[in-house]
Amino acid sequence: MKHNLLEICYLIGSVTFIIGMKMMGNAKTARRGNLIGAVGMTIAILGTIFLVERHESVDGVEQHMTIPGFIYGLIFGAIALGTAIGWMTAKKVQMTKMPELVSMFNGMGGACAALIGLMEYEHNVGQTGPLIPIIAGLVIGSISFSGSIIAYLKLNGTMNKPIRLPAYNIINTIVMIAVVAFGAWMVYASPSGYIMLYLLFAAALVYGILFTVPIGGADMPVVISLLNSFTGLAAAFGGFLYDNYVMLTGGILVGSAGTLLTLEMCKAMNRPLSNVIFGAFGGGSGAAAGAEVNGSIKDVTVSDLAVMMNYSKKVVIVPGYGLAVAQAQHIIHELEMILEERGVEVKYAIHPVAGRMPGHMNVLLAESNVAYEKLVEMDEINPEFDQTDVVLVVGANDVVNPAAKSDPASPIYGMPILEVDRAKHVIVNKRSMNAGYAGIDNILFYDPKCSMFFGDAKKALTELVAEIKTL
Ligand code: TAP
Repeated sequence: MKHNLLEICYLIGSVTFIIGMKMMGNAKTARRGNLIGAVGMTIAILGTIFLVERHESVDGVEQHMTIPGFIYGLIFGAIALGTAIGWMTAKKVQMTKMPELVSMFNGMGGACAALIGLMEYEHNVGQTGPLIPIIAGLVIGSISFSGSIIAYLKLNGTMNKPIRLPAYNIINTIVMIAVVAFGAWMVYASPSGYIMLYLLFAAALVYGILFTVPIGGADMPVVISLLNSFTGLAAAFGGFLYDNYVMLTGGILVGSAGTLLTLEMCKAMNRPLSNVIFGAFGGGSGAAAGAEVNGSIKDVTVSDLAVMMNYSKKVVIVPGYGLAVAQAQHIIHELEMILEERGVEVKYAIHPVAGRMPGHMNVLLAESNVAYEKLVEMDEINPEFDQTDVVLVVGANDVVNPAAKSDPASPIYGMPILEVDRAKHVIVNKRSMNAGYAGIDNILFYDPKCSMFFGDAKKALTELVAEIKTL
């Protein structure tokens, strides 16, 4: 009876993960999808705590094991503590700090997978079958844990420079091969005791660090997504070990989603994954670099811009990383509403890698109640720029740089962009002529139909809204 109930709990868990994941693919249903997945996870956890039958061997006879009450106290104490910390951290975190939170959570997942390996090894010494998922989970989980911690430190600025040992690619490859060989030997030779196991654990942690330290801070979202897929894989090995298909389903979903996201990000940046891992740009300095662009720029006054936008038929707003940094999501929504009241059609053009993490702009704008229908994906909005009177680019840079299409020497050449230069007028709001993430100048700023509207996004847009209200 208990076993059947447990199977039902796991089935509910697996199905809710899949449904939740599907719903997370759409901004409208994402919150509900998240909730559904969380409910499924809770059911699976409670089922595991109360319905798994435990046995121990006493004098060679299998006996049902009763769990002392204080163990339940410890389990629920730990769950309450973890929930409180997770809840408060997630509530407090700013949108721009989200990748850090994700990397920390991911690191914890990796640590759990590694702990399973450390706990289960001794119980399974000499049994090749179970040792394969135990060692694989330990190695992958440890790499994911230490790599995620480094990613966290890079994102919060504690480690703000990529550390590249001489010939780091060769060293890393040798260490990786050594860790894999060591793991295979542990499965094959299956030595008893903890010394070799902890050595393997340490070696995998070191590899996680070596793998992540050379990569530029700005490339961390791609790395986190990759490490996320590692954690999923490590959890899936746990599922094999315990013959637990909710763990297997969850692990496979995380692993495959992480892999797909990594590849999607690379595609949207037009960079192969190898280029991200072996480091090319994205050191995170933010300073201008690359080929200098000749020409002059012009700027626009707030009153001229107010008139131009107020009397437009169609305006497209391009949000970028600077909008998130300035927390200008509420004021941009106010601008949208005031323009719509005046009969102007307003849409937002969303580039797949605008900002610093996937879906960054969608979540940010949803926070200020911008209607989902107004957020238009790149492929859909590009043909509309020809009929657009004004494009207002707010804190975006690389994602609107025409060099991606026209300059084969540019590091971003081939990256799909929002083709804002097809509109009648382009206005760019940023604080200076500094470069964006890729560290290169933007030829758009020198286009005769482009004008700069300098200033912090929140402050500049507040002035613009006030000016439009006077018209
Ligand atoms: P960026 O190219 O980084 O440009 C952001 C611009 O915002 C900067 O040029 C900066 O110029 C401006 N800015 C910063 N603070 C501001 C403020 N307070 N007010 C107004 N402007 C401000 O951003 P993007 O166009 O959104 O492109 C994203 C980049 O990140 C792409 O290159 C992409 O490949 C990369 N990336 C994205 C992801 C994902 S998944 N989204 C992952 C990895 C890498 P000033 O300093 O002059 O103000």
